[in-house]
Amino acid sequence: MGKSVKRLMIGIALVCTSIFLIGCGAESSKTSGSGGDDTSGKRKLVVGTDATYAPMEFMDEKGNIVGIDIDIVNAIAEAAGFEVEYKNYGWDPLFPAVDNGEVDFAVSSITITEEREKSFDFSDPYFVANQLILVPEDSDVESFDDLADKRVSVQISTTGHKVVQDLLGKTSSKIVAAETMPLAITEMVNGNADASVGDNAVIIEYQTQNPNVKLKTVEDDSFEKEYYGLMVKKGNQEILDLLNDGIEKIKANGKLKEITDQDVE
Ligand code: ARG
Repeated sequence: MGKSVKRLMIGIALVCTSIFLIGCGAESSKTSGSGGDDTSGKRKLVVGTDATYAPMEFMDEKGNIVGIDIDIVNAIAEAAGFEVEYKNYGWDPLFPAVDNGEVDFAVSSITITEEREKSFDFSDPYFVANQLILVPEDSDVESFDDLADKRVSVQISTTGHKVVQDLLGKTSSKIVAAETMPLAITEMVNGNADASVGDNAVIIEYQTQNPNVKLKTVEDDSFEKEYYGLMVKKGNQEILDLLNDGIEKIKANGKLKEITDQDVE
């Protein structure tokens, strides 16, 4: 073999090695901040949630994060070919965790709102909900407007908080804003609020799980439909595409409907 051919081959080998190394670098930076790869070779994404929201996301007796939202994300992950690891952040801390890349995305019955879309990107909607009022069984409240002179408890920074602020005033002292929805309901049960307002599935679950507490729900047509989406860091198109691919697949194969018993387009 001539010297120049040998040199050429060494050169090619070096170029190949560096391409390989660059490839590795790109790969590891892609998965840093996320869970990396697991043994199946599938990419693992870290998912943040506020697991105080039965039946959507909550802790079972063993401390596992479970619920309808979790079943949905597991199905999306399976359909789109990635693995997931759930982390419980709580509600308010969840937003910065998505923003600073600590988690790859959030699932938490998060309503897609124009306000939130200014700071985050959302997947296609996968669940439809609305606000519901919960009051003591002997309450005279019959509509949302009846809350205008009442004390109302909500989970802080939620869409429920927003609708109640629109009725009572943004800084009204009549609003009892609790860190979690169960705490908001407890405030009402203990007499520190006359009503609670929150997402329908969670209010109904509380009522079902606590039949000894005498409560009733009040619906109101003024509450608009709310669509839940998975929330990603603004501009993270790659994760968004992956999630939407999974959502599209579980909508098409009937899996989403099987889990939620809803049709969401
Ligand atoms: N859907 C409401 C919102 O987006 C409430 C969601 C609260 N979720 C939770 N896991 N605490 O504001």
